[in-house]
Amino acid sequence: MKRKYIVGNWKMHKTLSEARNDFKHFSELTNSLSTADFAISAPAVFLSELGRAGPSKVKVLAQNCHWDSKGAFTGEISALMLRELNIKGSLVAHSERRQMNGETNLSAAKRVSALLTQGLEAIYCVGETLEERESGKLKDVLSKQIEIGLSLVDRTCAAQLLTIAYEPVWAIGTGKSASVNDANEAHSFIRLLLAETLGTSISSSVRILYGGSVNKQNVGEYLKASHIDGALVGGASLDPQGFAELCQLSLK
Ligand code: PGA
Repeated sequence: MKRKYIVGNWKMHKTLSEARNDFKHFSELTNSLSTADFAISAPAVFLSELGRAGPSKVKVLAQNCHWDSKGAFTGEISALMLRELNIKGSLVAHSERRQMNGETNLSAAKRVSALLTQGLEAIYCVGETLEERESGKLKDVLSKQIEIGLSLVDRTCAAQLLTIAYEPVWAIGTGKSASVNDANEAHSFIRLLLAETLGTSISSSVRILYGGSVNKQNVGEYLKASHIDGALVGGASLDPQGFAELCQLSLK
């Protein structure tokens, strides 16, 4: 069985002093939980400080990363820069970036590849809109997101460094979570797509996280499902005490 993986996505929340204190508090509260992996995906301006905030078992991740290692890309940060700051990886193609920043499956593919090439983890986010789900396009959307988004992946390191987050867009920040069955079915389908795209060995070791209104009340049910290996948590990750309790509950 894969180790459970719980990732907090702080999005554009907190000031530097709050980030520093909350990261420290969360690290202390989860320090004894040794059977799962935990990470915080923080705003770029906090990464330099959080990357040095050891010792902590909690990994620090970015929320986005450019595909080139350097160049004329104003406002962007590279995987090389992240690595130097002791940042362990990044989210890629979160649906908010797909919707608001023009992220496509192809640009996501380049970002995933750049991260893996630098030995960093990529948490590649996929998921359908409500309209796509209601018009029966779920499988088609997921197929394209996985096939194109992972088309540049170097298979030699994908088993260790790639994570998928299934986040139905309609469930993010809305309080409407997907039913455990619906989520589990989508995860099972993604696992098949991973096998087709990257081979069965990689497919069986990549963790697939569920995201979208995960909270203390529902995390246990999700994590009991056969194809759900962890959670990507937005709103419920902001309070360190509450998030640590959520992490604790995910292990039951
Ligand atoms: P949410 O966000 O938990 O607030 O729905 C999840 C995410 O966007 O990663």
